[in-house]
Amino acid sequence: MGGFFVTFEGIEGCGKTTQAARLKATLEKQGKTVVLTREPGGTAIGTRIRELLLDPATKGLAPLAELLLYEADRAQHVAETIRPALDAGKVVLCDRFSDASTAYQGAARGLAHETVEALNRIATGGLEPHLTLLLDVPAKVSVERARERAVKAGGRPDRFEREDFPFHEAVRNGYLEIAARCPDRFVRLDADRAAEDVEKDVLAA
Ligand code: TMP
Repeated sequence: MGGFFVTFEGIEGCGKTTQAARLKATLEKQGKTVVLTREPGGTAIGTRIRELLLDPATKGLAPLAELLLYEADRAQHVAETIRPALDAGKVVLCDRFSDASTAYQGAARGLAHETVEALNRIATGGLEPHLTLLLDVPAKVSVERARERAVKAGGRPDRFEREDFPFHEAVRNGYLEIAARCPDRFVRLDADRAAEDVEKDVLAA
């Protein structure tokens, strides 16, 4: 595997999608071949799984079923997009990856850590990012930004944007715990700042 694998993580509205796009542009200017992708929904099959997962009309989804849908999306994504790109020596930037399941389905939904870790390993075949950028914002900022965005987009907030403050707080704490456990892979950035300032830290990392 010759490429380099970077993931962006954080709670709703932390700015990771903006930062991933900016990093792609910068790396391409340096002559690198970059694949920018996301979870859920990095493949055609994953796009259909994403719709199911985010649709507010999806009611009564059991936490384990939710996890398995994310892992199905991930298994397809690793097989179809991420591994081939890394094998071809490309830089892969991924907007969320397995740490999101640990934070959302583990820390926030309350599934056992071992269950989530085991399924992450199966779905990824053990593939781990070289670098994970955690864009950290307080849960309050996140909930406000995400709601504003949903309204601006003229749409309804999705299934996760509808979650309350304690849920987002639990996700944030989940991410901070993983970052503390994996200091070699994680860089935590204060993302409650102007995008230009966060971008400087992304480039430094
Ligand atoms: P996005 O808003 O970053 O595109 O992600 C879609 C939602 O899916 C977001 O609310 C976080 C959630 N999610 C999980 O709950 N578990 C996961 O494993 C992933 C990848 C995302």
